[in-house]
Amino acid sequence: MVIAVDGPAASGKGTIARALAMHFDLPHMDTGALYRAVALNLWRWGGDPGSEFEAVRACEDLAANLDDPELRSEPVSEIASRISVYPAVREALLRRQRDFAAQDGGAVLDGRDIATVIAPDADAKLFVTASAEVRAQRRVRELLERDMPGHYDDVLNDLLSRDRRDSGRDTAPLTKAADAVVLDTSNLDVDQARAEAIRLVEQQLSPAGG
Ligand code: CDP
Ligand code: CDP
Repeated sequence: MVIAVDGPAASGKGTIARALAMHFDLPHMDTGALYRAVALNLWRWGGDPGSEFEAVRACEDLAANLDDPELRSEPVSEIASRISVYPAVREALLRRQRDFAAQDGGAVLDGRDIATVIAPDADAKLFVTASAEVRAQRRVRELLERDMPGHYDDVLNDLLSRDRRDSGRDTAPLTKAADAVVLDTSNLDVDQARAEAIRLVEQQLSPAGG
């Protein structure tokens, strides 16, 4: 069983994907962390995010970066969104995502293009969203908890510019798959969002649903 969870920044897709993985006893992959790990390499090397060539070189040796606290910082978020427009970067990260989705027993993956590119045949597909204001508030709270405080207006602008870039790129843009179900978490707390996600997935998995 494969569950695809897509959505814009801070929509709650990671929280939901982890809850689904727990509920259905499936392994989970946060695919955004791969793009962030590439961005972190580039940032550390002082590489140019405007160069596809340099970004592709930064796709090596990602494992050590995946647990790095800097992965969630705003500069890394920004670079991740810039390098993720490059087809060669997406290609370099494609295989490990497809292999993860294809493993025996299934998987939950969250990102931007899971339902459209990585696992178009997924058994259940959620498109998680929330208003930009709610998402910015969540990200501000999250950054504060990680001792990386950010100003609300700056965080909101960063989110909006990242949304525009992620939705507007030519290769694998952020878009709702035709057969994905929308889950708007703007007015849901974490517990409510998790419960609703499980309900929607069970509905899609049931013979009458989907
Ligand atoms: O947590 P948040 O939603 O802010 O970001 P993320 O999921 O960690 O992804 C960081 C960046 O990686 C996004 O802004 C996208 O540009 C890119 N990304 C992508 O292009 N495709 C994916 N499947 C996942 C992330
Ligand atoms: O993965 P994505 O960037 O879409 O979002 P996330 O990491 O799941 O959630 C971003 C932040 O919002 C986390 O601190 C969550 O605890 C919080 N959140 C929330 O307050 N209410 C929700 N319904 C979902 C997430």
